[in-house]
Amino acid sequence: MGILTARTRDEIAAIVSKARQDGQTIGFVPTMGALHAGHLSLVKLALEKCDFVVVSIFVNPTQFAPHEDFDRYPRMPEADSLMLAEAGASCVFLPDEAVIYPDGKDCAVKAGAAAKGLETDFRPHFFDGVVNVVSRLFDLVKPDAAVFGQKDFQQLQVIREMVEALGLSIEIVGAPIARDESGLALSSRNAYLSSEELSVARRLNKVLLDAVQALRAGEDQDEVMAEAAQALVSNGFEKVDYVRFKPEWQRVLAAAWLGKTRLIDNMGL
Ligand code: PAJ
Repeated sequence: MGILTARTRDEIAAIVSKARQDGQTIGFVPTMGALHAGHLSLVKLALEKCDFVVVSIFVNPTQFAPHEDFDRYPRMPEADSLMLAEAGASCVFLPDEAVIYPDGKDCAVKAGAAAKGLETDFRPHFFDGVVNVVSRLFDLVKPDAAVFGQKDFQQLQVIREMVEALGLSIEIVGAPIARDESGLALSSRNAYLSSEELSVARRLNKVLLDAVQALRAGEDQDEVMAEAAQALVSNGFEKVDYVRFKPEWQRVLAAAWLGKTRLIDNMGL
């Protein structure tokens, strides 16, 4: 069977309620499109958990600041839909702004404590925008389970907290980070990188791995983090937003810039 396409509130509601009537459980993978193997690994996980898998593609304006890459964010819904059909997804949901934000873009839901620090120190608007859109998407799709990547580890924690705070009965599943053969975390934003930038980007996961190994060996946390920041710069990153060990998550998380492109990655101890 081919993949179903929904664009409006009525269409997604009809498709999901038909699946429910047929006794199927609903899995959900929210994305901003420009899909790669990382996204598809989430779809695969959702298909293992649920009978009917909806994937949304929506470049959410409320999680971008005015100076960020909203306008140039890659958009390729036809190619994405083909990939999703091939991956076995049941439905692609392609809402436009009026479908998601019929009432304007004010954030009714605010991100909780997991949003403090890290990304928020540099993108203060970001997680409020994410919970704003994801809570609306959950309300439209009404999934039993939703899959998020550990690539955006802080986002995954923010979503878990939101589901808890709103009392939603949606299972949040965290998927492992998909990497290329060099260890670079797959990202839609990798498409922005020149070939020189790409070779620098491929050092990011190595720096994280070194830091994780040093921490495992019992080296001083502050020193290890200072060395990691230094290593990113000497490997060619132009600016390091943060590289930090988060004890509650037992994880080193980093964000750094190559030209106009901001990359994030993280690794668990
Ligand atoms: P986007 O960046 O398109 O990512 C969609 C989902 O794919 C997220 O859960 C992200 O963590 C996951 N993902 C991306 N690259 C991955 C990789 N290399 N390995 C594993 N998972 C990966 O994250 C967003 O969109 C948005 O913030 C969204 C949640 C859709 C809200 O607008």
